[in-house]
Amino acid sequence: MKSFDAFLFEPAELPTFEVAKESHTSHGDVPSLLKWTGSKRSQAARIAAFAPSHERYYEPFIGGGALLFMLGKPGAVGADIYAPLIAFWKLVRDDAERLIDDYTTQWAALQADLPGYFYIVRDRFNADQRPEDLNFLMRTCVNGIVRFSKSGQFNNSFHLSRKGMLPQRFAKIVREWSAHLQGIEFRNGDFQQTTADAQSGDFVYLDPPYAGNKQRYIGDLDVDRFYSVLDELNRRSVKWALSFDGTRGETAYDYSLPAELYKRKELLKSGYSAVAKVLNGPVEMVTESLYLNY
Ligand SMILES: C[S@@+](CC[C@H](N)C(=O)[O-])C[C@H]1O[C@@H](n2cnc3c(N)ncnc32)[C@H](O)[C@@H]1O
Repeated sequence: MKSFDAFLFEPAELPTFEVAKESHTSHGDVPSLLKWTGSKRSQAARIAAFAPSHERYYEPFIGGGALLFMLGKPGAVGADIYAPLIAFWKLVRDDAERLIDDYTTQWAALQADLPGYFYIVRDRFNADQRPEDLNFLMRTCVNGIVRFSKSGQFNNSFHLSRKGMLPQRFAKIVREWSAHLQGIEFRNGDFQQTTADAQSGDFVYLDPPYAGNKQRYIGDLDVDRFYSVLDELNRRSVKWALSFDGTRGETAYDYSLPAELYKRKELLKSGYSAVAKVLNGPVEMVTESLYLNY
């Protein structure tokens, strides 16, 4: 897989698979700390319900960490190839108050200089990659969805109608997350490296960059390497669950995971296509597949 370029796509290239946020706030909802492209936040409880009893939990493509919030306990491993994201998670775990103070200060600076301050931070982040700045940009950029240029520069714009979550509310979310992250190990690296020490009795949840659009994503995901890692996990009797493909309306984005790699495939309804709504197209039900090797 090509470094974190695998995740660097423009929204226009997305296979129109963003789904409308579910409005329910059922027990067990994940507080929205970091919106991340491909976030499983709205499905986290349903995916977590498939987790077998296990020793150590691994999440090698952590992104916004929705499943980690549900399944993470001391000793669990969360990892991602994107270094500023891992720096962000470590900051939430180790120094929640510093992140809260930073956001409070930056939020005030933004109110005083709208939208100029956003672009100052964006330039600074592209130079220094401070996790506090990644957090600020995610809170205030268009749709709160990370977007990078091909060269890895954060290039999303300021969300004009959004002045950032009130610091008090942000503080509450960060503290809640921080309590959940104590004792969790974060690693910056490739999924193959992350899962190398998973053993029988451990459980891995995999949510790689979306693989539904063959033209654009097969090359990026390097499926052969990905399949060989799944095969290695099978050989070591490590249980795993994988979010991989799905359907939108009548269209199947079936990636045909080789049948010998898994035992079960579950289809989870994940909402309605938000993109179709914006374009006044038909509102289509979106489902995502969850493959299990147990
Ligand atoms: C679909 S997102 C994960 C979303 C996450 N489940 C959530 O709920 O927010 C995929 C993640 O994989 C990461 N990634 C891409 N290539 C990777 C690789 N080779 N190894 C590890 N992580 C990778 C991206 O940086 C991105 O954060």
